[in-house]
Amino acid sequence: MSENNPFPNESNTGHFWDDSLRELTNDPPGWWRIGFHASWLWCLVYFVLYPAIPTLDGYSKGTMGWTAVGEYKEDLASIDKVRQKWEDKINNPNTTAAMIIADDELRNYTVRSAKVLFGDYCSACHGSGGSGNSAMSADQSGYPVLADDDWLYGGTIEQIQTTITNGRKGIMPNYGARLSEAEIADLAKHVVALSDGSEHAAGKELFNNPTKGGCFACHGMDAKGMAALGSANLTDAVWRFNVVGKGDNRQASATHTIAHGVNSELIDPASRNAVMPAFGPLGKDLSAGSIKKLAVYVHQLGGGK
Ligand code: HEC
Ligand code: HEC
Repeated sequence: MSENNPFPNESNTGHFWDDSLRELTNDPPGWWRIGFHASWLWCLVYFVLYPAIPTLDGYSKGTMGWTAVGEYKEDLASIDKVRQKWEDKINNPNTTAAMIIADDELRNYTVRSAKVLFGDYCSACHGSGGSGNSAMSADQSGYPVLADDDWLYGGTIEQIQTTITNGRKGIMPNYGARLSEAEIADLAKHVVALSDGSEHAAGKELFNNPTKGGCFACHGMDAKGMAALGSANLTDAVWRFNVVGKGDNRQASATHTIAHGVNSELIDPASRNAVMPAFGPLGKDLSAGSIKKLAVYVHQLGGGK
């Protein structure tokens, strides 16, 4: 082979193709060699410093003592430290929910951390973000929207906190048992007229007649409702109860509510059902701090007063 080497003056391996293509024995270029040695050196250093090599009973631990879990825990601890500062403030019995709202930083923290609580405890009924819930119960009672400025029990931070702590159960009697169908129809017409900004004469007369409707006793002479009783404002366009899928069904819905009442299922099985459970010590027993957070969150949803 090498006897008939056509390139006797260069160092090649003696392998030729097509007379001129040949394999040389030059050293690899300098940059390549530096890269090569740097890589294995890097591996060696890494293997010494960090956990790397599997052994029979685990793995080499490395001289730095680093672990992925350790790094994660350190990160968590540093976040917890920041959090703890806020949590301590919120859990302090002297910090009222109103004070949290007044403090921009504390409020922002509270709203963010309450989102999770709201998802866990409230959104099954009130929808995510308090947008209400179209999944109506059998009597079409549904759950109130919390992200508007229409309140049954009042929208101040204190009222919201009381609602969450003690729960709410507004009661309205079933008038089907004591008024005629025609009277109930007139009352319903009056209620529908009220939400359109007018009134219905015969219905209004019954509404304000203590021996007939006596509705004013709970809904007020102006029919705007009373926060202490949770009696709905009947003069706005917001309908708490509904009959799904019947177009303008306000007449039907009002008729049902008036005839069967609210939370009167003991005397009328067709009664509207509207119970807000208690989350304080008498109910689900959430911590005072969690309830403060939730109250601030609901207040900030849009309609807090
Ligand atoms: C089992 C269903 C259910 C759950 C869970 C629930 N609620 Fe309610 N909530 C209701 C109902 C029903 C009402 C309306 C009561 C009424 O109509 O009288 C209500 C009313 C309210 C009101 C009063 C609204 C107003 O207009 O005054 C607030 C505030 C409220 N809920 C907040 C919460 C918060 C915060 C949570 C989570 C900690 C929560 N709710 C969990 C069913 C629920
Ligand atoms: C004992 C107090 C009380 C009396 C008396 C009363 N209501 Fe109510 N009413 C309530 C409460 C509480 C609610 C429920 C609000 C809720 O939980 O969403 C309600 C709800 C309603 C609703 C439903 C409103 C909606 O948005 O869907 C109508 C309509 C209504 N009442 C009409 C009347 C009429 C008409 C009378 C008189 C015949 C009357 N009420 C008497 C307490 C009362």
